Amino acid sequence: MKTIKKAIIPAAGLGTRFLPATKAMPKEMLPIVDKPTIQYIVDEAIASGIEDILIVTGKGKRSIEDHFDNNFELERNLMDKGKFELLEKVKEPSEVDIHYIRQKEPKGLGHAVWCARKFIGDEPFAVLLGDDIVQADKPALKQLIEQYEETERSVVGVQKVPENETSRYGIVDPCTIEGRRYQVSHFVEKPAPGTAPSNLAIMGRYIFTPEIFTFLDKQEIGAGGEIQLTDAIQELNETERVYAYDFEGKRYDVGEKLGFIRTNLEFALQNEEIGEEVERVVRDLLMEKERAKL
Ligand code: G1P
Repeated sequence: MKTIKKAIIPAAGLGTRFLPATKAMPKEMLPIVDKPTIQYIVDEAIASGIEDILIVTGKGKRSIEDHFDNNFELERNLMDKGKFELLEKVKEPSEVDIHYIRQKEPKGLGHAVWCARKFIGDEPFAVLLGDDIVQADKPALKQLIEQYEETERSVVGVQKVPENETSRYGIVDPCTIEGRRYQVSHFVEKPAPGTAPSNLAIMGRYIFTPEIFTFLDKQEIGAGGEIQLTDAIQELNETERVYAYDFEGKRYDVGEKLGFIRTNLEFALQNEEIGEEVERVVRDLLMEKERAKL
């Protein structure tokens, strides 16, 4: 059996939900406390045993490449000042090689993954989306890799969402359940409100056999006028089973404003350095608000 050593991180989106912040800065570089969101994703891939990552970028995304590169001037400066803890934090990750390719037209997630076909070749691989950060004892991607090792089939990470949110996600229609793993009869991208076959939503973590490219090669425009990964998954599932796995862990949606603010707050509250003070600030703010009402 071939092992999963390569991962794709699509990062070509325009980040319109965060304008004007993302006018000249990639949304993947927006920080949660002091770390860009994309670094949480790269860290999860490394912790799951990935050795090569391909980041699919687009126009205006150069700072992502700079972030995962050496910065000799900064490192020398921190070294001279004896700031060794910070020095460790800014060093480029040595456990993986990070590669880049540009998606030349914004044609959607399915097209972004298709752009990586030559990098992947004839191997199973992982895809991680940057809008979901997962905190878990065992990394979410690692859980999916273990499912692949058992089944040798593609596996899509899912979690339950409230009924009124199903239209924001790819949704699976499960037919059989074995523990946390589902066989799926249908995958549907962003079903219209009230029409979702279940509340099991695709959560930005995937393992694919290379056969997915057969379907991405000829994939046509789908929901939202984009080439959809979920449509290719549905077609793959008709010839070769694609499992859904309800992974363990808390998932944070950093792809929209409220989720982003909430994640920042929760991570700040958990932070060893500033957590207690942040809690005090939050309490003070709430008290001020209450007082203002009187
Ligand atoms: C993408 C996928 C969708 C998935 C979601 C998870 O949608 O197309 O199937 O449920 O990510 O975050 P997007 O949020 O990019 O529109």
